[in-house]
Amino acid sequence: MSDDGLKKIISHAKEYGFVFPSSEIYDGLSAAYDYGQLGSELKNNIKQYWWTAMVRMNENIVGIDSAIFMHPTTWKASGHVDAFNDPLIDNKDSKKRYRADVLIEEHIAKIEGKINKDVTKAAKRFGDDFDEAQFRSTNPQVLRRQGDIDGINAKFKAAMDAEDLGAVKTLIEDLGITCPVSGSKNWTDVRQFNLMFKTELGAVSGDSGAVYLRPETAQGIFVNYLNVQKSGRMKLPFGIAQIGKAFRNEIIARQFIFRMREFEQMEMQFFIKPGTQAEWYSHWKEARIKWHKALCLGEENYRFHDHIKLAHYADAACDIEFNFPMGFKELEGIHSRTDFDLKQHEEFSNKKLRYFDPETQESYVPCVLETSIGLDRMFLAVLSSALREETLEDGSTRTVMRIPFGLAPVKAAVLPLIKKDGLPEKAREVLAKLQLHHNVQYDEKDAIGRRYRRQDAIGTPLCITVDHDTLEDHAVTVRNRDTMQQERIPIAELNTHVDELVSMASLFTA
Ligand code: GAP
Repeated sequence: MSDDGLKKIISHAKEYGFVFPSSEIYDGLSAAYDYGQLGSELKNNIKQYWWTAMVRMNENIVGIDSAIFMHPTTWKASGHVDAFNDPLIDNKDSKKRYRADVLIEEHIAKIEGKINKDVTKAAKRFGDDFDEAQFRSTNPQVLRRQGDIDGINAKFKAAMDAEDLGAVKTLIEDLGITCPVSGSKNWTDVRQFNLMFKTELGAVSGDSGAVYLRPETAQGIFVNYLNVQKSGRMKLPFGIAQIGKAFRNEIIARQFIFRMREFEQMEMQFFIKPGTQAEWYSHWKEARIKWHKALCLGEENYRFHDHIKLAHYADAACDIEFNFPMGFKELEGIHSRTDFDLKQHEEFSNKKLRYFDPETQESYVPCVLETSIGLDRMFLAVLSSALREETLEDGSTRTVMRIPFGLAPVKAAVLPLIKKDGLPEKAREVLAKLQLHHNVQYDEKDAIGRRYRRQDAIGTPLCITVDHDTLEDHAVTVRNRDTMQQERIPIAELNTHVDELVSMASLFTA
């Protein structure tokens, strides 16, 4: 899918009540979005899928809900006050502002695109005999291009490690990167920009009352490490999970809900014995990719990307990237954060944040393995892989959202075939039986075919039709969104039938 694909998703999301621009009657606010009646249901279901997998299914992981406002020293200790910066650069002609690292990444992506073209061409030429791995490791043109990429990455890493922003600007100039708007190479110097939103607490103004909107939920977990460990009598290894809002003053927030200034994270910090990082890093990489793939959004849509420039707290890190309409981009981060955060909080708070190991009789600061996924990005991944235009056997077309059944915002629609003869009353009886267990809609307007299309467009897995026979045989017709096949199910068995297909548990048993 392309940028056009993203536009289609944005307009479909608005038309059907998934996502609206925030405060739209005032022309909206850049990069802020509201989730509508169906969007909030889908979002809740994604949260539940994550919480079930992380908290319920792991005996040694518990969940918390910490405050967005935290003591300002938290952010000094975590390094965010000093180091949570993006390098920004302006083009003097277009007056457009860019992230310097993103300009360089996009330049690299272009070279990667050329390599992929070389590979595709060679695959066509050699047919069945083609060995892609061998071609990539021996073809002189591919090797030259890969060498260019490695060289750029090395220069960029060295410049950032040395905090040499002049070298970053020189790299942009040497690569001949132009502004996509003005086409010119007339760049300002590169400057660091802190991404945290600062505000004031109560009536106290000035720096003494300054607080930040949290830029990640993780620190709410770190500062509660000891509270949870002691009150829950937790033994290492154990995890603390949290879902909540995070705020970042992104230099360029764009691509719909992919990069926002207010967003939601689902994070889990797994506290482990120092020295076991490598083992838990690979455990959580595997567990998290399994969680994604169980949704069947397409195995080919995921890939791991190892970080070149590690964050200030990490000794290993990778992203799970998803093939969004704008290409492969970060969906989730898996970071081995060492004992950095707890040690920093020990130092800044003067409180011991240790674990007493009953086996070794030692006391130490645990290391942390983190999994961190953006809820809004997950929402976009589901939406973008689900939306399809399909041509049916009879030549007609339908717009359908193939949202995984367990995540669908509306699980079933109950439809009386016609609006009379006691069918609406019977349909409402059926509805009442289902409503306690699932989000179910009732619809009696228009011909049945049009009602099916409306439900397809919002991704409803099951349409349940009540017809004249229902009054006699106490059974209904259940239509499956994906196969479009219909089967007759006795009303007495309907709850079990629907449950088997659309419950959250179905995602874990498939
Ligand atoms: N605690 C670690 C941490 O916050 P991160 O890679 O900066 O790591 C984790 O963020 C996840 O949060 C990302 O993988 C992404 O899904 C999501 N995320 C980050 N910034 C975002 C933004 N501006 N808008 C939407 N989601 C964002």
